[in-house]
Amino acid sequence: MKVGVARETAPEERRVALVPETIQKLRDASMTVLVERGAGSAASFPDQSYVEAGARIVSTATLYSTSDIILRIHRPTPAEAKLCHEGQVVIGLLAPLLDPHAMAGLARHHVTAISLDAIPRTLTRSQGMDALSSQSNVGGYKAVLIAANAFGRYFPLLTTPAGTAKPANVLVLGLGVAGLQAIATARRLGAMVKAYDVRRDTKEQAESLGAQFISLKSAIDATGQGGYARALTPQEQAAQQAELNDIIATQDIVITTAQVPGRRPPILVTKAAVEGMKVGSVIVDVAASDLGGNCELSRPGKVVTSANGVEIHAPTNLPSSMPAGASSFYSRNISNLLLNFVKDGDLSFDFADEVTAATVITYGGKVVQPATLKLLNPAPKGGAQA
Ligand code: NAI
Repeated sequence: MKVGVARETAPEERRVALVPETIQKLRDASMTVLVERGAGSAASFPDQSYVEAGARIVSTATLYSTSDIILRIHRPTPAEAKLCHEGQVVIGLLAPLLDPHAMAGLARHHVTAISLDAIPRTLTRSQGMDALSSQSNVGGYKAVLIAANAFGRYFPLLTTPAGTAKPANVLVLGLGVAGLQAIATARRLGAMVKAYDVRRDTKEQAESLGAQFISLKSAIDATGQGGYARALTPQEQAAQQAELNDIIATQDIVITTAQVPGRRPPILVTKAAVEGMKVGSVIVDVAASDLGGNCELSRPGKVVTSANGVEIHAPTNLPSSMPAGASSFYSRNISNLLLNFVKDGDLSFDFADEVTAATVITYGGKVVQPATLKLLNPAPKGGAQA
């Protein structure tokens, strides 16, 4: 089987889906690896490094016309989807729920679409395939570095002949993978870290990393399904914001990572909260995207300074800012998922398997994954779905 590694075309994307180090693993499974010219250049993996690892460098046209399987980070653009051919398999972070019609388009082309972001994350055996976690980890780490870089003072307690610097006060809001990594990184830099999440389980996790967990008096436990949070009611959100405002006012750095699946990120840092912060404070909104962010003043992809001198960073693709490290992790995730489908040198899809049922979005000319199908065929209003 021929596996093709695509060059990403999304603006400012520097990652690549497969790095040279992983090529031998695929060759051991009798696969030939083709790499689109320049695919790894922006992540510090020049074409020559792929050749040395046993891959062949090819043009865009050759890649799409001859590969049995295409590995990528993002969903193919409409132009790239047109290059795909019948029977081809495309694996990446396809985000089927954000654009189910793009999945329907791939199904019409008889392309099998497999999405890494649909992996059931709580299964022990899927942990090595969990690209959402590996990339969020990079996000949490880089968020702290951005904050430390933008902050005009030290993070650690420092005693010198010229005086003593107090440690920075860092607040992390949202304690999924990115938030926990942000705590760990800020602690390593010597900051005093406070942390908060609406899921009660996170208290112990935050404390084990050296953060002080904040228990709000409004004490909402919003644990939802699959380990995710549920959306708060407007009343719960207002109570949470009011209590957080006072705590935020005492912090030098606020890192926000709160997400609710399928929803706009909740506003945790209101305009009033920013106005209560000291000049020189820094907010890094890791949840920022076109859907919004956790800070009311965030502008996705931009850095803005509030009227009272608080710098608000809203990066939208932090993993791309550490492309070699992020790509190396992603490469292991995507190759583990691919090898999950290889039986006797060929691809085989057993839909009784939980990983297959969740990640294979289109197959045999149809959208087959239940969550994506549901979005394409919503139940009629007032009636149950047939
Ligand atoms: P995420 O990116 O969906 O959300 C980040 C955090 O925001 C979550 O912890 C969530 O509870 C929190 N949040 C949502 N609304 C909030 C609000 N109003 N106020 C404060 N916090 C709020 O999370 P991620 O990183 O995708 O992880 C999701 C879940 O999956 C977590 O439970 C994580 O532990 C779990 N997970 C489990 C794995 C495993 O068992 N092997 C592997 C990876 C993740």
